Formats: sequence, C-alpha cells, structure tokens
Amino acid sequence: MIIVLLASACKPKHTESCTLEPALYQVADFPIGCAVDLNQLEFNPNYAQLLGQQFNQLSPENLMKAEHIHPQVNTYNWSEADRLVNYCQQESKSLHGHTLIWHQQLPTWMEHFSGTKSEWEAMFKDHIQSMCRHFKGKVRAWDVVNEAFNEDGTLRNSIWKQHLGAGYIEKAFRYAHEADPDALLFYNDFNLVLSPKKREAVLGLLKSLKQRGVPVNGIGLQMHISIAFPENRAMESAFQDFSEAGFLVHISELDISVNPYGGALNNDSNLWERQAQKLAVVLSLYKQIDHSRQYGITFWGLSDADSWIPSAFNREDYPLLFDVNYQAKAAYCKMKESL
Ligand code: G3I
Repeated sequence: MIIVLLASACKPKHTESCTLEPALYQVADFPIGCAVDLNQLEFNPNYAQLLGQQFNQLSPENLMKAEHIHPQVNTYNWSEADRLVNYCQQESKSLHGHTLIWHQQLPTWMEHFSGTKSEWEAMFKDHIQSMCRHFKGKVRAWDVVNEAFNEDGTLRNSIWKQHLGAGYIEKAFRYAHEADPDALLFYNDFNLVLSPKKREAVLGLLKSLKQRGVPVNGIGLQMHISIAFPENRAMESAFQDFSEAGFLVHISELDISVNPYGGALNNDSNLWERQAQKLAVVLSLYKQIDHSRQYGITFWGLSDADSWIPSAFNREDYPLLFDVNYQAKAAYCKMKESL
C-alpha cells in the first residue's frame, strides 16, 4: 500500500486543459492521422469518441501486417481490416495502408518459406498485389516497404533481400502500382532524422528510383522521438531534403517520449511543457516545407494508455497527445496553437 501511494505521489501529473473543439484536423491544412487499434475502436467508447472527433486519417497499427492479414499461404483474413475500411468510409476518414513488405510481424509460413528464387518472387508479388487489389480505392496510400535499411546506410539483411536480392524494393513499388495505380506509394523508416547515413542512403535510393520511373511518391519519417532528441536542425534538413527532392513527406509514426533513457519520472522536470515544445518545433518545421508535399502527420497511438513504448522498452513513458484517461495534455493544446 505504501509503495503504491509513493509511486502515485511521484508520478508526473499534468493539469493542462483546453477545448477539444474545433478538432485537430479542422484546424490543420493537411491530414492529421492516428494509428488505430480496432479492438479499442470497437469496444472502448472513450477511445472511439476521441479518435472520431480529432483525426481524419487512420493507419492500422497492426492489422494489415502480414502476420495478421495473411496467416496461411492461401488464406487472407480480411475481416478486421474491412471493418476499419467501413468505419473510415462511414466517418469520412482516409486510410493509410501499413505495411506491405517488412521483416517483422511475418506469419511463420512466410518467414520459413522454402522455394526457388522465382517461387519467392511469386509469393512476394502475390502478397503485395492481393493486398493492393483488395483495398483498391479504399486506401489513400501504402507504406510499400518498411524499415529496409540499417543505421549505417547498408541494406538490412531481411528475408526479402536474402531471397530476392537488393532489387526487391524497386519490385515492390512496381507490383503495388500495377495492382492499384491510384494509391500513393511510400517508403517508411525510423531514425531518418537521427542517422545521417541512413537518411542519405534512403534519399539516394528514392531519387534513383524516381529517376528511373519507379512509382514512388513519398517518404514516411516515422519520428519516434523524445524531448531530448533529435536536434531541430536535423529535423529541418530531413524534412527539406525529402521535400526538395520531390517527395511527399509523411510524419508517419510520431510520438515524443518523456523518458527516453528510462528510470523514475517526477513532477519537477516540466515534462509536459518540454513535450509540447518539441511538438511545436516539429510542426513549425513541417509547415515550412512546400504545402503540396505535406501528406500529413500521424501519431502512433491515441492516448498514453495505447502507446507501444512502455511495453516494448519496459519503461514508464507518456509519449502521446492524450493521457491514460483520454484527457488532453499540454502537447495537444500546443498543437492546436501551432497548426
Ligand atoms: O498478435 C499477438 C497476439 O496474438 C497475442 O495474444 C499478444 C500477446 O502479447 O501479442 C500480439 O502481438 C503483439 C502485436 O503488437 C499485436 O498487438 C506483439 O506482442 C507486439 O510486439 C506487437 O507490437 C507492435 C510492433 O509494431 C511490432 O513490432 C506494436 O503494437 C506496433 O505499435 C509496432 O509498430 C511499429 C510499426 O509498425 C513500424 N515502425 C515501428 C513501430 C513501433 O515498433
């Protein structure tokens, strides 16, 4: 009991409040997105109310990943994603498809697929094109390839690279475009602001694809960032570099950790103001890029109760716009002022 009381006494509190109307997307002149957990949307009225009210673009956090949607070689499990499609259509929200080709969250059969190079290629193409055909006209865009690079700018040795060679990225974009020529196609990755070598490699690849007529429209800068990093100059140059090279820029998975190094948090360190301030900087730099390149900003989760960070890193953290009780934090109020 004493431990519980002490823990709650030390827990950082926030007292910020501002009006929830107009909604974020109503004050922005680009889409404001959120990663969505369908289970929460269907069974948690607080979650559903806030999500529906504030955002006009959704990315499925997990349910379009191969592990969930393609559990067996000849079985696609469309039902959950279709419910999300219906929700988006009924509520006039756009849907950002996440993600076609990744090295994580693969079904066992795919991870251990055994076949010749041409059988691998057929499997790869079938996955991409079945997804794109099924959701044709229903998704605005796809994260076609996710996280293909290492921090040093070399290509990750994923199953796709091992079995199809480095050209798999180009093929993925071509196959996706063939199946749904109207969808915008993105390459999505993390640390493109923090790791200059990775950014250079990704930008180099995207430019070369574009020059050769490969249908790639944009970059997803995930931006799992924190109150301590990255530096403003690095964010500015990342946004500008991709925009000036002619790519749509999606801040695709934004969250701002208040506890990036782990450890105990307390009330003394202005965490909420620092988080709000960091968000204001992100917004002001994003607004400096050409408006035609502003695809949108997507938060990776609705409230601090929904964030992937505490369980993934086994630490206390509060990286999103709303607290665990779905109340607006300083970052939300600052965002309204800054949009
Ligand atoms: O599906 C199983 C379920 O069957 C099981 O009962 C449950 C028990 O723990 O686990 C479920 O899997 C979890 C899955 O999310 C779906 O909820 C995994 O344990 C969990 O590790 C997984 O985490 C997701 C993570 O991607 C996987 O790498 C996070 O929710 C999701 O936010 C995160 O998102 C990624 C982006 O897609 C790409 N960029 C990085 C970002 C953060 O890692």
